[in-house]
Amino acid sequence: MSQPKVLITGASKGLGLAMARRLNQDYCLILHASRDENIRELREGNFVLAADLGDPDELKEFCKKLKSEHGDDLFAVINNAGMSLDKPLAFQPEKDIDSMLMVNLKAPIMISKTVIKLFGLKNKGIIINVSSCVAETGNAFQSVYAAAKAGLIAFSKSLAKEAGQLYQGHQIRVLSISPGFIKTPMTDAVPESEKEKYLKMIPAQRFGRADEIAETIAFLLSDKASYINGSNIEVNGGLF
Ligand SMILES: NC(=O)c1ccc[n+]([C@@H]2O[C@H](COP(=O)([O-])OP(=O)(O)OC[C@H]3O[C@@H](n4cnc5c(N)ncnc54)[C@H](OP(=O)(O)O)[C@@H]3O)[C@@H](O)[C@H]2O)c1
Repeated sequence: MSQPKVLITGASKGLGLAMARRLNQDYCLILHASRDENIRELREGNFVLAADLGDPDELKEFCKKLKSEHGDDLFAVINNAGMSLDKPLAFQPEKDIDSMLMVNLKAPIMISKTVIKLFGLKNKGIIINVSSCVAETGNAFQSVYAAAKAGLIAFSKSLAKEAGQLYQGHQIRVLSISPGFIKTPMTDAVPESEKEKYLKMIPAQRFGRADEIAETIAFLLSDKASYINGSNIEVNGGLF
């Protein structure tokens, strides 16, 4: 029997790459990635779909291909791709605001819109949206990023409720996950002084590892998490 397909966006590095490595044995992966060299080890038996999710035309084409090439056996989607352009709002160019809203919020919404219909036909499927701890805590110089990530939590809860009303006896789950400070290329760019400030707010006294997020994703996709729906799962070492 063929393995169920799981889409991971932003699989080229960081959390997405760790998720891809963790899920590779159990699922057929659709790897959304721009950088081929990082995922070469994972290509066999999997699929690669590239798209700039900040570009509305590329996003549209991506959703179309996802549906036509993988729609029939798609089991889950992990909307992981994300980006942050940190600046005081007063100095944030409008095009950067648009990019952050597009990549972090609109793309996951459009991908979810594409797949929820397919999941509705099968009465089965899982969507996991990767939010962030800053969605709840807020963070200076990340107001737009935090707003987009907070939007993802509300979006996931609402879509979970909507599926409950539309599809009788379904096994569709929509969730979000809020990582804390996890060591990846994204956080490697954070200045040392900021990192020290963060560390003081983490009871676990260390930054998280990408494999710890990947392990949580593996659990959420499994039947062991069958009653977890609409929730936002915080994985942050107790960060406050
Ligand atoms: N690391 C953390 O501490 C942390 C905490 C909370 C939430 N998060 C969230 O977790 C997710 C993964 O973060 P990460 O730390 O792994 O970040 P990362 O190392 O910077 O990786 C981000 C991924 O998103 C992709 N991406 C960014 N902009 C894109 C665009 N316009 N079109 C297509 N793909 C795009 C990147 O692809 P390319 O580079 O190949 O273009 C890359 O694969 C993000 O949503 C982030 O907001 C991370």
